[in-house]
Amino acid sequence: MTANELRSKFLDFFKSKGHTIIPSASLIPKETDPSVLFTTAGMQQFKQYYLNPDETRDARITTSQKCIRTIDIDEVGDDTHLTFFEMLGNFSFGYPDKENSYFKKETIKYGWEFLTETFGIDKSRIYATYFKGENGVSEDKESLDILKEIDGLKEIKPQGFTDNFWSLGTENSPGGPTVEFYVDGIELWNCVFNEYILKNGKYEHSDNKGVDTGMGLERLAMIMEGKNNVYETELFQLIFSKIEELSGKIYEQDEMETKKDSGHKAGYAVRDIDGRTVGMLDEKIPKLMRIIADHLKAATFIISDGVMPSNVQRGYVLRKLIRRAIRYGKILGIENNFTKQIVKVIIEIYKEYKELENNKEKIFEELEKEEIKYKNAIAKALKNANLVFARRPKENGSFWTADEVKADNLGRLAFQLYQQDGLPLEETFEFWKSNNIDFDEEEIANVFKKELKKHQDLSRTASAGMFKGGLTDAGEETAKLHTATHLLLAALREILSVEIYQKGSNITAERLRFDFNYPQKLTPEQIKKVEDLVNEKIKENLPVEMTEMPKDEALKISKVSFDPSKYGDIVKVYKIGDPSTSSGQVFSIEVCGGPHAKSTVELGKFKIIKEEASSAGVRRIKAILT
Ligand code: SER
Repeated sequence: MTANELRSKFLDFFKSKGHTIIPSASLIPKETDPSVLFTTAGMQQFKQYYLNPDETRDARITTSQKCIRTIDIDEVGDDTHLTFFEMLGNFSFGYPDKENSYFKKETIKYGWEFLTETFGIDKSRIYATYFKGENGVSEDKESLDILKEIDGLKEIKPQGFTDNFWSLGTENSPGGPTVEFYVDGIELWNCVFNEYILKNGKYEHSDNKGVDTGMGLERLAMIMEGKNNVYETELFQLIFSKIEELSGKIYEQDEMETKKDSGHKAGYAVRDIDGRTVGMLDEKIPKLMRIIADHLKAATFIISDGVMPSNVQRGYVLRKLIRRAIRYGKILGIENNFTKQIVKVIIEIYKEYKELENNKEKIFEELEKEEIKYKNAIAKALKNANLVFARRPKENGSFWTADEVKADNLGRLAFQLYQQDGLPLEETFEFWKSNNIDFDEEEIANVFKKELKKHQDLSRTASAGMFKGGLTDAGEETAKLHTATHLLLAALREILSVEIYQKGSNITAERLRFDFNYPQKLTPEQIKKVEDLVNEKIKENLPVEMTEMPKDEALKISKVSFDPSKYGDIVKVYKIGDPSTSSGQVFSIEVCGGPHAKSTVELGKFKIIKEEASSAGVRRIKAILT
């Protein structure tokens, strides 16, 4: 079975058990979730459903979620670590009150049935673990009893908090004990029973219990293909063939460690395709190829979800992934820009993810730009390090020694490379060392730190000045007017007719313009009522929340009158109002591309400045925020 088949078998299995299949969410978490840089688990897009199950129509959902975990980035290339992976999962919300919800019994039963019947894994290869109770949280006796009933399970192992309790660790987040299925001693499927909420650092019982399971597709493929590690699966083979073709090196290398007492460094022989030894490397070739494949996979998906290489946050992680891939490519002997060739293969392997094909030009372009930028930075690091700089007198009138001048110059160059070219200090050091440039790491790091501090002070002053002057940028104003437009439509529906739809909208930093269907001119009373209702909602300080969901789902809860085909398969839905506020309900739900204010109170005061005809049966309102 190919990985594509494994994925669909999983989703189809849970569909047959009444689950709705939902596409993977973006790798970039919702803007309302600042707790993580990237999506790391399938449950993330559903986090709020564990606390407020009424927000989802479906009590049962199943997904295959693309995930990025960068915490172990330096381990990538060994047998188990990956930056990019897919997580298969089934979820249930609102147990026991929500219709069709389920909990431990069904989860364990479904898991066992899927592994042993659908996939035919021999029962004697499978054992399970459960939570034995620890850290003030009681034993998961319920799961233990259910596991005991399973006929043929090899073993049941009790484990503690670290292994068998799952929590996001953030305030007000769901968490609970887990049951894990192991196959041939490999942890395969993590089933989390969210029956607690983390409040003030304590796990409190939740009225709404939920299920969150996660199984790595790569590991599943490894077990089903009978391979020893994830890199040997079909998900990597075509990528390795491409790297072999580009580098002229082969993946399966005999390790030929040179004798340590011969004075040579330990290393690995590099053979060409004809088997001739062409050189030695410090790292095994398979490891280099694994890193290149993993990192470019991750980079491909990250760019496709809208992040570009930069020196901060997600952009920096992306930059690091791309540059490591390029560096290892170079070590393997690939001289030309090569990322595009490999990414083409990646897109082919992951054709189930349509966004890759749709964004491929952008992905190629960003990767190639980064390759050029990186190579230029390296050239600059080497060329400028060798320049001789003039001595300048010190502030106290004395002269610099030659060593001090050198450290000062190299330190400032290192900072410039970091600041302008995105080259981390350690990497600059590495290049200098491998090019026999002699320098003192500590002194240079000191100069670097001084420069960094100077820069941070400068930018702090600049932004402080901006806030003092009360300046907000145009983007912020536009975001507020976008949000005001949603309130306006909801108000028109409440006051004039539920059958009002958007017929057009245009927003600048100064005003909004909104067209909608209505047969006659609005009376001054109606205009006033609409204005008042919008202002009332602004004052209520309603949260503006964004959720991403499949288009079909979204269009069911937010009706539009225009052609929805211009939207992608996954759309953003903005919701204003929170069921727990005084108004007791959500005021507005709309499919929209954003950007938006975080809460209505930021909007200030809403004022309609004009109401006129736009075309037959269509009215136009212009409004401002003051
Ligand atoms: N959230 C759990 C995990 O990440 C199960 O999906 O393992």
